[in-house]
Order: sequence, then structure tokens, then C-alpha cells
Amino acid sequence: MANYEVDMNWVNETWEKVSKKMAKVAPEVGAGFPYTTKDGKYVNEHNASWWTNGFWAGMMWLMYKQTGDETYRKIAEKSEEMLDDPMQDFNGLHHDVGFMWLLSAVANYRLTGNELSKTRGMHVATLLAGRFNPQAKFIRAWNGDKIGWAIIDCMMNIPLLYWASDESGDPRFRQVAMMHADTAMRAFVRPDGSCNHIVSFDPETGDILETPGGQGYESGSSWSRGQSWAVYGFTLSYLHTGKQEYLDTAKKVAHYFITNLDETGVPAVDFRSPAGDDMKDSTAGCITACGLIELSKAVPEHEKAIYLRAAMKILQGIDKHCCNYDENEQSIVQKGTEAYFSENGIHIPIIYGDYYFIEALSKLKGNDVLFW
Ligand code: GLY
Repeated sequence: MANYEVDMNWVNETWEKVSKKMAKVAPEVGAGFPYTTKDGKYVNEHNASWWTNGFWAGMMWLMYKQTGDETYRKIAEKSEEMLDDPMQDFNGLHHDVGFMWLLSAVANYRLTGNELSKTRGMHVATLLAGRFNPQAKFIRAWNGDKIGWAIIDCMMNIPLLYWASDESGDPRFRQVAMMHADTAMRAFVRPDGSCNHIVSFDPETGDILETPGGQGYESGSSWSRGQSWAVYGFTLSYLHTGKQEYLDTAKKVAHYFITNLDETGVPAVDFRSPAGDDMKDSTAGCITACGLIELSKAVPEHEKAIYLRAAMKILQGIDKHCCNYDENEQSIVQKGTEAYFSENGIHIPIIYGDYYFIEALSKLKGNDVLFW
């Protein structure tokens, strides 16, 4: 395949719009856990343990890395401190401690070497490893009666464990992460490259009991954000371990995702929902674009264009169809969808759309500090 040149004019112009908007919005919002936008303002209607509560800090660290502006660093640090309360709330925590603390404390540690942030990261990594079921070999997702439930999203949480092994020299964290990733390859990824969102295992034997539809259309369909977690997550597991099967799996799920995009570049909420529905999820696009950019760095030279070209199609599609650069309104990426059957969460701005859009742009601008 011929070489592919990223359109750096587009990248730089888009970054300028984002950067100008964030310079106004970040001090307005200050420290906290914004989630969506109502009446032009970021709001959060969730509790302190909500899985998305690290994304704002992550956005601030990305902006700080790219601009050096101390305003962003201060907001990120304060937002990280605000996560100390939920860290004590053992019953409120879940496997998404990866999302929450990789982008807050661990990002801080990676960029500044802050020892307290490292301790926070090691603390929650230990908690995540403690959710591993050694018999059935998966990390338990949620609490309550969902003892045998694992979800594809966890592929983005296990980089916390790779980081903890690298920092401590203790291989147990990486071993747990790899056993979970091996289970995910077997139980979540289907032969055609599509993925289950949820797998319910027998927690004693590891047998698969059922594969509930989760946030997608139905069991057996293809929820695009679940696909996006798989694209980026398996790529990350490959980057952290060098295990070839993870790279092969990342490529397989990426090929499925790319093939199912329409001409807009903005993914459907579910790639196997009934024909004719026009529901989109921009967040799945932003996440996948980040995964594809990393994948393009991991494959041989002659394959890179496949993934970079697809990442650009998605990002430029999101820019054209979903982005709001108006500085009087706080969120950037519109048209995110929480779940196929969500009551109030269809075609709304969601914080992780903004986070991954900014992460993708910063990667294209040369930022090589991986927060995952
Ligand atoms: N991790 C939940 C979601 O992707 O909506």
C-alpha cells in the first residue's frame, strides 16, 4: 500500500480551535468531574465513583502537556485530589478504577513524577487486581449480584496493571492483566471480528453462561463503543507485552470497525442494529481513532496507511458532523450515545468524546506520552 500523509494543516487548524476553546472553558469549569452539557454548560449528574470521573483531569493533562499552561495542571491536580473520597468508598468502586486513575493520578505521575500520585495509582491497581477471578480468569466488572460478569470495556482498565508492574517490578499485575486479556480474546471476540459487550461466566468454572446485549441493540449485535474499547484495548495490551496475538486481535477488531463505517466516518451506535436507524455514537469514533493511530505505529511500514487513513476519516467526519467550537458552549464533541436504548443519552455530548478527540489530535501533533 502506498504511503499516506496525514493532513497536518487540518490537524493544526483543528487543534487551534480546540485549544482556544479549552483556554476559555477550563478556568470556567475548574476542578471536578464534568460529564455532559446542558444549556451550554458542562454538568455532572453522577456520583463521585462514576466511571467517567477521570476524563476531565485527563483532558487537563493533555492540554498541559501540549501547551505548558499551568492553569491546566492546577485543575488536573485538584480534580485528582477530589477523587480521594471515592477511593475510600470500597463498595462504590468497580473495575473502572483504571479509567478513573490512569487519567488523573497516573498521568500526573508520568508527567511530573509526583510520588503521592504514584501511591494513589498503586493503591487502585491493587484493588483492580483484587477483582480477578483466578479460577475463571477474568476481572469482575461490577458489584452486587454480577459476580461472573466481565465486559469488553475492561481492556482499557488493565493498562493500569501493566503500569503497576513496570513501576513496582512485581510481575503479578501484568500476569493478571494478560490472563484477563487472553480470556477476552477467547470469550468476547467473535470469528468475524465483532465483539460481545458482556460475558457472564460461571465464577466457579469459567464456563460462559450468556452474553447479554448490554449497551448495544441485542445479544449477538455489535455495540460500536464496545468495538472501540476492543480496538484500543488490544492494541495497548500488545504495546505493553509484545504478545503477537494481541496485535492480531487488535487488527481483526479494527478491520471489522473500519469496514462498518459509512461515508460520514461517524460510527453507528450498533453496527448490527436494524437497517434504517440513523443513531450515531461519535465517542466510539474518537476512541477508535486513538486506537488506530497507536495501531499504525505498531504494524510494519507497508500496513500503516490502513489504520492512519481510517483514523483520519473518522476524526475529520467527527469534526465535520459533530464538533462545536463555539467558546460560549463548553463541550466540543456532540452526538455521543450512552447506549442503544438509553432514555436521555442519545446524541448528547459526553466527556469521553471530548477526551479522546483531544487525545487523538495530540497524538497526531506528536505527543508520544501514552496515558494508558
Ligand atoms: N464503560 C461504559 C461505556 O462505555 O459506556
